[in-house]
Amino acid sequence: MKDEKQESQVFPNKLQIQIVANGPALIQGPVVIIDQLGNKEEKESMFALCRCGGSHKKPYCDGTHNFNDFKD
Ligand code: FES
Repeated sequence: MKDEKQESQVFPNKLQIQIVANGPALIQGPVVIIDQLGNKEEKESMFALCRCGGSHKKPYCDGTHNFNDFKD
């Protein structure tokens, strides 16, 4: 596995997605999120997308994975 700092230097403008064990996917923008209705939201800084399915703020993580026994 390559060093994270080294990777960002090789691909400085690439979207970065980091999967957290037993938790969300961390997305480092800039990125545009388009919801199921076609609404667009620009994200510049890091945010978390739910992978456990339990969030009450989908598609974003609200920390519910800490309480619903999500394991991967
Ligand atoms: S991954 Fe955090 S609430 Fe689902």
